[in-house]
Amino acid sequence: MCGIIGYAGEKQATPIIIDGLSRLEYRGYDSAGVAIETGQGLEITKRQGRLSKLQEALRGQHSPGTCGMGHTRWATHGKPSDVNSHPHTDCTGRFAVIHNGIIDNYLGLKQQLIAEGHRFLSETDTEVVAHLLEKLYAGSLLDTAKQIGAMLKGSYVLLFMAQDEPGTIVAIRKDNPLIIGLGEGENFLASDIPAILPHTRKMQVVEDGEVVRLRGDEVLVVDATGQIVEREPLVIQWDLEAAAKGGYEHFMLKEIHEQPKALRDTVAPRIDLSTGKVDLSELGMPSEVVQQLQRVYIVACGTSAYAGQIGKFLIERTASIPVEVEVASEFRYRSPLLVENSLVIVLSQSGETLDTMAALREAKRLGAKVLGITNVVGSSIARESDYVLYTWAGPEIAVASTKAFVTQLAALTLFGLFCAQERRVMAQEAVAEIVTALTQVPALVEQIIQDQRISLLAKDYASYEHAFFIGRGIDAVVALEGSHKLKEIAYVFAEAYPGGELKHGALALVTEKTPVVAVAIQPEVYDKTIGSIKEAKARDARVLAVVEEGDTLMQQIVDDVLVIPHTHPLLAGITAIVPLQILAYYIAVNRGCDIDMPRNLAKSVTVE
Ligand code: M6R
Repeated sequence: MCGIIGYAGEKQATPIIIDGLSRLEYRGYDSAGVAIETGQGLEITKRQGRLSKLQEALRGQHSPGTCGMGHTRWATHGKPSDVNSHPHTDCTGRFAVIHNGIIDNYLGLKQQLIAEGHRFLSETDTEVVAHLLEKLYAGSLLDTAKQIGAMLKGSYVLLFMAQDEPGTIVAIRKDNPLIIGLGEGENFLASDIPAILPHTRKMQVVEDGEVVRLRGDEVLVVDATGQIVEREPLVIQWDLEAAAKGGYEHFMLKEIHEQPKALRDTVAPRIDLSTGKVDLSELGMPSEVVQQLQRVYIVACGTSAYAGQIGKFLIERTASIPVEVEVASEFRYRSPLLVENSLVIVLSQSGETLDTMAALREAKRLGAKVLGITNVVGSSIARESDYVLYTWAGPEIAVASTKAFVTQLAALTLFGLFCAQERRVMAQEAVAEIVTALTQVPALVEQIIQDQRISLLAKDYASYEHAFFIGRGIDAVVALEGSHKLKEIAYVFAEAYPGGELKHGALALVTEKTPVVAVAIQPEVYDKTIGSIKEAKARDARVLAVVEEGDTLMQQIVDDVLVIPHTHPLLAGITAIVPLQILAYYIAVNRGCDIDMPRNLAKSVTVE
């Protein structure tokens, strides 16, 4: 994680860097820092805590200079503190470095450098790079950066500045994102597009192994073999308004409200309502690949992995292809035995999650074809997958994923139906029925978002420190995702179980102090969920159930009911999660939590 930005041009660098960091804070907010080249040397200011602490430190007296770089940190090596904040310098202060990623072999390098007389100040892995610069620099920052890149193991984007090369930033990248912004008389480097979008729409993605030398009037990119890289810039069509709060108190609330539009944008261009068919010709997936599919593996992390678990139901029940789901950090290390004609689907909102990227590469190494489902155009996962299906949710800024999740479910539904059509395993009327239902889902989500009762109930539930979530089938996965939301933004110790599992252990913890949230939508397991609810009620738990309209039974059994409109059971993951997102949001508001930036987390997890 961590966000980085670099600027070289004619304007004052600090305000541009601080502004960019404010849009990168979602990547980490343990500390922030800047290095500015002032003409007299490199001046560094860094502070533990949110960017506002750094802004306070710089207020009215930022170092003058037209070249500089900034960093916002998510701590990995060394706790959040001023000294562990980036930029890091060498013993002489002539070099500065910022870093996103992890240097796996830093301990060996550090020992060697200490033995050679270098003095380390921080506990970070990054500081070794500053001392390596000091040791190896022989007049060319570009050459030294290449040399250092060859010595490092791990994942990194590193930006380097040297007092002896004013107006210049050099960058190297491996397995972490880096974008170049091309301006008029000024150029930029950043972890992502929004950080520099106010200044230019012309962007270039840096690939692994490439080295960049950035100056105000020149950008040089060379690949690992030393060849100059000429690449057509991307012209970004969207603007920052899409990523601004737009009057909402938090990005999370805004993004919850954006779900109907995100769903429409993801679904509408891919269906033909007159025929009831799904058109995924954009994938370029040959028909024989779909015909021959023996197994689908879905690999992802966090909320995306929960979307994958629902994807298993969606694909198995539509396309009749067996699906296995696994979290990416396990898949990559367990030497998976992929059957012949496998498709690995990697799901990632950001398209940059390191574990998911590594799983993608492992899948390709094992000979499988990879379909990337991601929300970020041009992201690493989009670039490295064989086939790409974009979710059109627009920028998701809040750490807690909401609109990305529901659009992932929509994309997985479309993919399941597409395979069902190609393989002719489902009657066209049945496909059309789900397609029609899918087009109606955005309006249902709109209706749920208007339900004032959810925020009122949240007040009642905000004082509990523990909670259980239960459900069966797709409902069990909705329960998992609902508990995930409550944990990450409201800091409530929330555990989710398939209802039938409760009695095998967790029931021992159910008391009047542990409310149970039950998702009871799926018709085929509804009665079974009632059974689990009764077990919880018999232990004095307060039960809140999410049910569909027309359910008159549940009101008589539980303490509180949230009623959502009816949809096709396969699509109920999309509707049923919405009240749980809103519940978690308002519980977090009532508990005074920092909703968009929950403690210890970051939006895009680009470290292992
Ligand atoms: O960008 P990705 O979808 O790959 O991110 C995966 C997880 O880090 C992410 O879903 C995380 O669990 C969110 N904080 C969930 O709200």
